[in-house]
Formats: sequence, structure tokens, C-alpha cells
Amino acid sequence: MSCSINLKELTYSNSSKEVFKNVTLDVSHEEKVAIIGANGSGKSSLLKIIVGLMKQSSGEISLFHEKMNSLKDFKIYRSDIGYLPQDVNDHFLCPTVIEDVMFALRAKGEKKDEAYLKACSMLEELGISHLENRNIYDLSGGEQKIVALAGILITKPRILLLDEPTNALDEDAEKRIIDILNSIKKSMIIVSHHKTFIEKLAPTVYKLTKEGLNRI
Ligand SMILES: Nc1ncnc2c1ncn2[C@@H]1O[C@H](COP(=O)(O)OP(=O)(O)OP(=O)(O)O)[C@@H](O)[C@H]1O
Ligand SMILES: [Mg+2]
Repeated sequence: MSCSINLKELTYSNSSKEVFKNVTLDVSHEEKVAIIGANGSGKSSLLKIIVGLMKQSSGEISLFHEKMNSLKDFKIYRSDIGYLPQDVNDHFLCPTVIEDVMFALRAKGEKKDEAYLKACSMLEELGISHLENRNIYDLSGGEQKIVALAGILITKPRILLLDEPTNALDEDAEKRIIDILNSIKKSMIIVSHHKTFIEKLAPTVYKLTKEGLNRI
């Protein structure tokens, strides 16, 4: 089966220690994979490495069968990868919810009216229409997380890398996100501590430890 993401023998050490080694993973076209692991095991670091925001210490990354040799190579695929960081505080570029969700579409040259309509329907799908004109920095942590997800999903990226998409979300919001993510036929890596969320979404689960990434 065609693979969208291939990781081969990745290792990562930060300034003080080796965080992980032996990370080998193939994510096929439209496959949904979950990664679990203890706090500090390197899950967020791994996603940042896959998206090109951080550099691995050794090992290879291929995206869409292209080997990523430098951070420059990742730039070619930036709009193909939807990355939701664990902490969305620094993620936003516009003051209001609707402006931020429209932003990527406007940057791609979409007309304001069309971008607005798409953003409204995205907010509706995620159950946050009532937040349309709110200031992003006045929102709760959970509300911010859903707004950030809306801004990512609206661009229809080819791959989704989601770092704890449901932490801080209430039950209804979590259910809406499960339904939406299940309806999206794309390759995804989802980092989460929520067992029930993972069970409903990703048939393949890996655990990250210092020694590597193992299927469980
Ligand atoms: N900016 C940083 N500078 C130095 N060390 C860092 C930095 N960010 C993370 N670390 C360290 O790197 C290791 C991996 O952190 P990372 O955030 O990737 O773990 P995680 O598995 O996502 O944890 P959590 O489940 O708490 O989100 C940890 O030991 C952490 O303390
Ligand atoms: Mg993390």
C-alpha cells in the first residue's frame, strides 16, 4: 500500500539526554495511527520533527515518498500537512475567530466572500458558530483548541498530525471531533492520552518509549 509518511530509525536527543531512538513507522495512505506514551517520552517532539519544526539527531523521514534532507525540503509540503500543536497559544495569526479560520484560505487567494462562507460552515460543523466574532485570546483553552483545528481542517491538508486534539475538550466537543476525523479519509498521526478517543478513531496504536516505537 502507498505510504504517506515513512520514518526510519529516528533518534532524538535534546541538550541534556537522549529522548528516543529506534523510531520506525510507515503510515499508509488514509491510515489513522495513534501514538501514546508517558509524559516527556517525546511524542510532541516527534510530531515537530515530522513536520520539520525540529531536527532529528539521526534517521530518515520521507513524506509522500520524498526523502526530507533539510528543513527546506519540508517547506515544499508545508501546506500538505495540517499540524495541530499541543499548545495552541502561539498558533493564531488573527484577533478574531472568523478571521483566523479564514486566514489560510485568504492567503491562498480565495475571495473574501467564499472564504467567509467556508469558514462559517467549518465553525458550524465543529459546533462553534457562536464563537465567530469572539476575540481568540478571550476564549477558554478548549475553545481555542477547536478554533485551531477549524483553521487546519479548512485547508484540507493531505496529512493530519494532531497533538492531543481533545485535551481540555468537553464530551460533546470530543464526540464532534471524533465524527469529523472519522469522516476524513486521510493519513493521520494522533497523539493522545485519551483511551476512548483513540479506540473510536485509530485502529493502530503505538507506544513511544526511550527504546522506540512499538505497536500495542
Ligand atoms: N524546549 C525544550 N527544551 C529542552 N527540553 C525540552 C523542551 N521541550 C521539551 N523538552 C524535553 O524533551 C522531552 C520530550 O518532551 P515532549 O514534549 O516531546 O514529550 P511528550 O511525550 O509530548 O510529553 P507530554 O505527554 O507531557 O506532552 C522531555 O523530557 C521534555 O522535558
Ligand atoms: Mg506532548
